Amino acid sequence: MSQLPDPAQSRQPDHAIEPLIYRRWSPRAMTGEPISQEELLTLFEAARWAPSTYNEQEWRFLYARRETSQWPAFFGLLMEANQLWCQHAAMLVVILSHKVFAKNGQPNPVHLFDCGSAFENLALQGTAMGLVVHGMAGFDFERAQRELKVPEDYAIAAMFAVGRPGDPDKLPEKLRQMEAPSGRRPVKESIIEGPYVSP
Ligand SMILES: Cc1cc2nc3c(=O)[nH]c(=O)nc-3n(C[C@H](O)[C@H](O)[C@H](O)COP(=O)(O)O)c2cc1C
Repeated sequence: MSQLPDPAQSRQPDHAIEPLIYRRWSPRAMTGEPISQEELLTLFEAARWAPSTYNEQEWRFLYARRETSQWPAFFGLLMEANQLWCQHAAMLVVILSHKVFAKNGQPNPVHLFDCGSAFENLALQGTAMGLVVHGMAGFDFERAQRELKVPEDYAIAAMFAVGRPGDPDKLPEKLRQMEAPSGRRPVKESIIEGPYVSP
């Protein structure tokens, strides 16, 4: 039985940052074991403390645990490529984002940005707890909106899977080859001092 690689072995930041940040990655190998209610609430607690415009906390999380009757509705939204590995997840989550300000119903231009912050908080917490947290865009957004009865003032932001780390050798061959922490472009290629200039 193999184990998932440790990202700290292959990821070398160019500038010293908190190790939790580069230890977070998106594995696909999971055991299928459940997570406890306390673990579940701890993950969402981490999301709760994310910053947001006017403290709007635009995020809402719809979730399904694998051993429950909610699971098929969530699992069925995923593209086949994601179903292949998500069948061994403990929980699937759909992130909803409140599109308008609670106080006046006006459009909120940063609602998705704030949901992204909440997801990253949760992903970092999951990493600290030794869990897999893997974001997904590969699912049917329209069906999610309709079938999960999401009101019109909420957008579907993304989905993610949570589970216990599993044996990468049990993944289908194509996915097994991809099961390694990725790198990043140099920070200098992401920043510009002053107005935009083409690289
Ligand atoms: C919003 C979002 C959508 C993603 N969609 C998918 C997906 O549908 N399927 C998948 O296997 N990985 C998906 N990923 C994982 C990314 O491919 C991964 O985060 C990226 O390659 C960086 O690797 P790392 O998370 O391991 O650092 C998604 C990640 C995010 C944040």
